[in-house]
Amino acid sequence: MLDQPDKERGSGQKAGPPLDFQEHLHRLEAEGLLTRVERPINKETELHPLVRWQFQGGLAEDERRAFLFTNVVDAAGRRYDIPVAIGALAASARIYAVGMGRPVDEIGDAWMHAIANPIPPVEVTAAPCQQVVITGEALRARNGGLKTLPVPISTPGYDAAPYLTATLCITEDPETGIRNMGTYRAALKATDRLGVRMSARPGGAGGYLHWQKYRKSKKPMPAAIVIGCAPVVMFTGPQKLPIDCDEMAVAGGLAGAPIRVAKAATVNLHVPADAEIVVEGVIDPELLEPEGPFGESHGHVALEGFNMSMQVTAITRKRSPVWVSILSEVTPSESSVMKRVAYEPRYLAYLRDSLSIKGVRRVVMHEALTNLRKVMFVQFAAGTPRTEIWRALHGASSLQADIGKYVIAVSEDINPENPDAVFWSLAYRANPIEDVHISPYRSEGHGPKSGGPHEDSTMLIDATQKEPDPPISLPKREFMERARAIWDELGLPKLTPREPWHGYSLGDWDSVWDTYAERAVRGQWEESGKETFARRRGGLIPETPVKSVKEE
Ligand SMILES: Cc1cc2nc3c(=O)[nH]c(=O)nc-3n(C[C@H](O)[C@H](O)[C@H](O)COP(=O)(O)O)c2cc1C
Repeated sequence: MLDQPDKERGSGQKAGPPLDFQEHLHRLEAEGLLTRVERPINKETELHPLVRWQFQGGLAEDERRAFLFTNVVDAAGRRYDIPVAIGALAASARIYAVGMGRPVDEIGDAWMHAIANPIPPVEVTAAPCQQVVITGEALRARNGGLKTLPVPISTPGYDAAPYLTATLCITEDPETGIRNMGTYRAALKATDRLGVRMSARPGGAGGYLHWQKYRKSKKPMPAAIVIGCAPVVMFTGPQKLPIDCDEMAVAGGLAGAPIRVAKAATVNLHVPADAEIVVEGVIDPELLEPEGPFGESHGHVALEGFNMSMQVTAITRKRSPVWVSILSEVTPSESSVMKRVAYEPRYLAYLRDSLSIKGVRRVVMHEALTNLRKVMFVQFAAGTPRTEIWRALHGASSLQADIGKYVIAVSEDINPENPDAVFWSLAYRANPIEDVHISPYRSEGHGPKSGGPHEDSTMLIDATQKEPDPPISLPKREFMERARAIWDELGLPKLTPREPWHGYSLGDWDSVWDTYAERAVRGQWEESGKETFARRRGGLIPETPVKSVKEE
């Protein structure tokens, strides 16, 4: 069913990222990360809901798999000869890492290195993505054009049409010629027409900035929508890269080699030569067409809105392509994993390297339901000056217009991925009147629009530890570890420890209490009792801290 690896395309190689999507699927399968489904699956009603269960069914992230559906049918019972892959780009960070050809913990550095060291693409003439070229009347035939592609419905019951989701929409700035590649949803409208949504909000789609320039000159905007290609190329679509940076060259930086590109068949653009499928066309510079509803990643259904109308001029594809879909909507989802693994290291590098903030350790974006952009945590080393913490809070909230509505600083002992620990910090380490700042004038960003447009604001919270505190009230590590060994020996249910799982010092402690505690575990507590009897004092009320009373 899948293509055999082809040496010329750089696929079949063992090291480095896969340079072809089907080679990527081979690697996922070899690592046990791909589930094949051979029974008939209805692309309208069954395909996305089945994979959705991976995210709603209580599975740990590492248990999620890529799916390859090899027997896809539609509502009319029509069978497609093109299989559909979903979850194959980023059902989990591990799957994303296979696409990057690196372990998960090297993903952030790989992005930083590629952005700093882009490698321009190289043009080739014989492009696998143009083995089949469909143009003219074949695009308009009753069951032709886009209808030959197994495009699934993402949110059956709400979405107005099947949608292209795993897109890389290539456009060029008509003034500078600089290319942009963005992942934008596209709705099936006719066998030769798509509705494309490029966000117009500040911090939204780079392609929208190009469209504005085409609108001024009243010329149609050429666009090429790539479905399925080397993951390092696909991953640049949702990544937040500076405007006017050629994302194909950044993909080359990730690949460590130039990406092979070919001239598109009917528009003046270049496309990844090893792509699975490319839909070429022109976008109307003036008339917008109602598009949606569509289940969005902010967790609500985006209602019908006027968006771009793309007249398809060609569909080009490999002889045996794979269709790729991304599971989006409510988070966590494939779409949010894809953004998370790319955005968090970029923010960390920005705070640590560009703003030179001392003591910043991690940036974590809250994923479940909130969709990363709204709630962010910045973790700091103990002793980081308050002024640096506030510089980081302001920096994290202003790097992107639509990211950082709530930014919360926590200390190193707090795992920002554990919301309970964050609430614990808010409860005991932040005084709202001093440690919370609210500033006005934030773009409302990505969210439901039912209430009409309004401005949002920003809340910054310093919930770091500001003064010494008593230790965490759990048995010391050595006792918990000993008990864990007994637990395992007894064959009790498997544990998945959550931090904090042992006591540790937070700075407010006296060595005499170590002596008491050490005696206590040796069963010698009476000795301590004798000492405290000698230290009795009059003239105090109960709960007077001992350290507040000078002892002779
Ligand atoms: C699955 C998926 C679907 C997306 N859909 C859209 C969309 O329809 N419109 C949009 O503007 N951004 C969408 N995004 C977010 C953009 O891809 C993201 O903002 C990216 O940075 C845009 O790239 P650009 O800055 O080069 O335009 C989507 C992201 C993912 C992962």
